[in-house]
This record gives sequence, structure tokens and C-alpha cells, in this order.
Amino acid sequence: MSITDLMVSDGSLESAKLDLAKDRKRVIREMEEIHLDYSAAIRQVTTKLEILGDDYRQRDEYGPIHHIQSRLKSMDSLLEKAERYGIEDPINNMDEVRDQILDIAGVRVVCNYREDIYALSELLLKQNDIKLLKIKDYNENPKESGYRSLHVVIALPVFLVNKQVSVPVEIQFRSIAMDTWASLEHELKYKNKGVLSEDVQEQLKSCARLLADVDTQMEDMRHKVFWPGHTGRTE
Ligand code: GTP
Ligand code: MG
Repeated sequence: MSITDLMVSDGSLESAKLDLAKDRKRVIREMEEIHLDYSAAIRQVTTKLEILGDDYRQRDEYGPIHHIQSRLKSMDSLLEKAERYGIEDPINNMDEVRDQILDIAGVRVVCNYREDIYALSELLLKQNDIKLLKIKDYNENPKESGYRSLHVVIALPVFLVNKQVSVPVEIQFRSIAMDTWASLEHELKYKNKGVLSEDVQEQLKSCARLLADVDTQMEDMRHKVFWPGHTGRTE
């Protein structure tokens, strides 16, 4: 090998190293952008829901929200889900990942009563900066497992220094009873690496039915106590 050959190969090694460093910087920047955009969207949605809760409390001395939780999907589970969705080389196709994975930002609103989940979700969806992307009513149509919850995927604008981005957020609206079931079932599954015996699955389904009945009865008592003589809310 001549000295010029060596210089050329050295040169291309250097430029390959440079490309790699650039790639790495780009990937890190994209991940930081995801973190910024989606955590901003979570804060906005949470604030919107808290404001609705405050207004309810001021008007009725009744707050429909028991508590709100939120989470940003970890990069690890985002990449794993992207691969599961068939996105090739997700780390270099972040735009596609952002288009297809709609639960990078997740907010869970636990309400006291089942009817609160509909009242709150309707009020949120009426806001003119909110766009509805997807709605799945697992309260009306529970999942095979027995899971009940109202899932609403929205997109809302986040205003940054030199651009505006539309960010999707998955919101799970649950009553306390729905949340009790989902939390404990998740724990049971998690403990057992996602596998539960037929027997336990049947028991869980039965608990889900009982808790749906608890929701109905709680609502019924609420109507009797708060609005005697009415069958539902008048205002
Ligand atoms: P993934 O997001 O990939 O799970 O599927 P998907 O887009 O079809 O979403 P799905 O509507 O099934 O709901 C996803 C989320 O709802 C999960 O991440 C859980 O938080 C919750 N969920 C759905 N099914 C169950 C269930 O059977 N038990 C519990 N505990 N939670 C559930
Ligand atoms: Mg999910």
C-alpha cells in the first residue's frame, strides 16, 4: 500500500467518524425535542383539566377530579413499540415514530364518578385548540380482560421559540372504581410477567363486573343525595 493510499483510507476513516458524530448529535437532538414537546403537552393538558376541576369546585363546591397522573414514555419502550408497529430503524425515522405512536405523552384522570369522565372529556374536547384524533370507550365496551376506561387521543399545539408543533396526548379517563381494577390487575400481571391463569382471569372479569355495578350504585346514591327529585344533573 502506497503512502497516498494510506492517507485516503485514513481520510475516509476520519470522515466516517465525523458522520457518526453528526448522526449521534442529530439523534440526541431529536430525542431532546421529543422530551421538550411531549412534556410541554402533558403540562398543558394537566393544567387544562385542573382548571376545569377548579371551576367545577367553585360553581358546585364539588370537584369531579380525584387525581391526575402523567407519564412520558421512556425512549426504550418507545423504540420497542415502534419496532412492534413495523417502523424500520426507528432511531433514524423519528418523524414516522411521532406520527404513528400516539401514547408518547400519557395523562390519566381519575374521577370520582363514572359520569364525571364523560362531562370532563366533553368539556376538554370543546376547547378550540384541541383536536380529537381517536376515542375508545372501554367503559361502554370493556376489553376482554374486563378493563374499563375512556381513552381519548387528542392533539394540541405547543408554541416554541421559532415554531409551533402539534403534539398528540393519550388521556385515560377513569372512575375511582375503574382505576382500582386497572391498577391491581396491572400489578398482578406485572408480578407474573404478563401471564395469569384462566382462574385468575375469570376472577378479574368478575371483579370488573362488580366494580361496574359499584359505579352504577355510587352514581345512583349521588343523584339521591345531591339532586333529590331529579334523575340526573340539570345543569
Ligand atoms: P398499546 O398502547 O400498544 O398498549 O395498545 P393500543 O394502542 O391498542 O392501546 P389500548 O387502547 O389497548 O390501551 C393502551 C393502554 O390502556 C395501556 O397502556 C394501559 O395503560 C391501558 N390498558 C389497556 N388494556 C388494559 C388492561 O387489560 N389492563 C390494564 N390494567 N390496563 C389496560
Ligand atoms: Mg400504550
